[in-house]
Amino acid sequence: MTVATTSVELPDEAATLELGRRLGAAARAGDVLALHGTLGAGKTTLVHGLAAALGIVGPVPSPTFVLIREYTGRLPLAHVDAYRLGGSDEALAIGLDELLGGPGVTAVEWAEIVDDLLPAQTLHVHLSTAGAGRRAELRGPELGRWLAGAGDAA
Ligand SMILES: Nc1ncnc2c1ncn2[C@@H]1O[C@H](COP(=O)(O)OP(=O)(O)OP(=O)(O)O)[C@@H](O)[C@H]1O
Ligand SMILES: [Mg+2]
Repeated sequence: MTVATTSVELPDEAATLELGRRLGAAARAGDVLALHGTLGAGKTTLVHGLAAALGIVGPVPSPTFVLIREYTGRLPLAHVDAYRLGGSDEALAIGLDELLGGPGVTAVEWAEIVDDLLPAQTLHVHLSTAGAGRRAELRGPELGRWLAGAGDAA
């Protein structure tokens, strides 16, 4: 399987939101987005854009203390924060595998903690700081499909 990569500069919060909206516009049932990056890298911000593009209205708080929050939009969205999970065994215990195999879109912060549960077609987004802004590295076998049909945002 060919795994393509691309890099997107995100000079400010608005750019992170826009990337999230772009990915949300391309998302299909069953898609998984794995979000990587240190504390404050912009993972939750990206999910805010994703949720907006899926037609989810209202607040989308960080799920850190509840681990999983579920929303209903054009597609269901499950927002998972794996930060407090010890690994895949604990993720299985709270049903992450069922979400990942389900009909909605699943976005997982700190996805490396549950890496062995993620499907092969997962879109991985690595966020890092770049000056005052951020940079996103996108990687996945279906990257072309994720980026197709959306202007020149990248
Ligand atoms: N491209 C960007 N440039 C500058 N600041 C940004 C950018 N994207 C997001 N931010 C800001 O970074 C801060 C942290 O963002 P966010 O909460 O999304 O990070 P996170 O990766 O989810 O953190 P955590 O690991 O704590 O869950 C927020 O204040 C947000 O506005
Ligand atoms: Mg977060």
